[in-house]
Amino acid sequence: MRKPIIAGNWKMNKTLAEAVDFAKEVKGAVPSNDAVDSVIGSPALFLASLAEELKGSDVKIAAQNAYWENTGAFTGENSPAAIADLGVQYVIIGHSERREYFHETDADINKKAKAIFANGMTPILCCGESLETYEAGQTAEWIEGQITAGLEGLTDEQVSNLVIAYEPIWAIGTGKSADATIADEICGVVRQTVEKIYGETVAQAVRIQYGGSVNPENIAEYMAKENVDGALVGGASLVPASFLALLEAV
Ligand code: G3H
Repeated sequence: MRKPIIAGNWKMNKTLAEAVDFAKEVKGAVPSNDAVDSVIGSPALFLASLAEELKGSDVKIAAQNAYWENTGAFTGENSPAAIADLGVQYVIIGHSERREYFHETDADINKKAKAIFANGMTPILCCGESLETYEAGQTAEWIEGQITAGLEGLTDEQVSNLVIAYEPIWAIGTGKSADATIADEICGVVRQTVEKIYGETVAQAVRIQYGGSVNPENIAEYMAKENVDGALVGGASLVPASFLALLEAV
């Protein structure tokens, strides 16, 4: 039985004061950690303050990115060791916005996954196809390629603990969410890809999220599907009431 995981991805939104106010408002109101993992994906600037504010609560924190080296001359990057030291539990990697605007490759994402595990955190590894790929009927092959490359060299134990987010690019921030049956089918492709490489036990353990225009009204449709274990939510995670409504619908 896989525990659901709902992660908000704030992207590049909020000020420090807004982030802390959000944390104050939700920390006593989220469901128990036994039932669901409730995660806030924050800009790096607010991680330390959020970790302080959310200490001892049932809300977990995700960074939206991390570099693959722990120290060194990498101006402007964030060390996974320093992120882990704050008490952050998850790091989102391979989001389509990072792949597209910051030219991240599958090989970069794989190095980040290894560094995040090495620092005791859990990657939320994103994959997803463009509208062009979707319309050409090549989604399954595309996703299989991204997952195979992203997982290269990870151990059975690491992949069992991993979170993978399937986010069709055409559904992100567009209000045009993927039909729940399609989301389930492609999350199933992710699971089958993991099974091919790591076997059934690992494939049954890995948690897979759907992301792309998820909101409190449609989340239950996705969560009802066999291969969907959670959601990665952008816009609808920005307001406390909406974030809490997503968690209540699980
Ligand atoms: O990481 C989250 C996704 O990009 C989805 O964003 O819920 O605003 O469509 P959205």
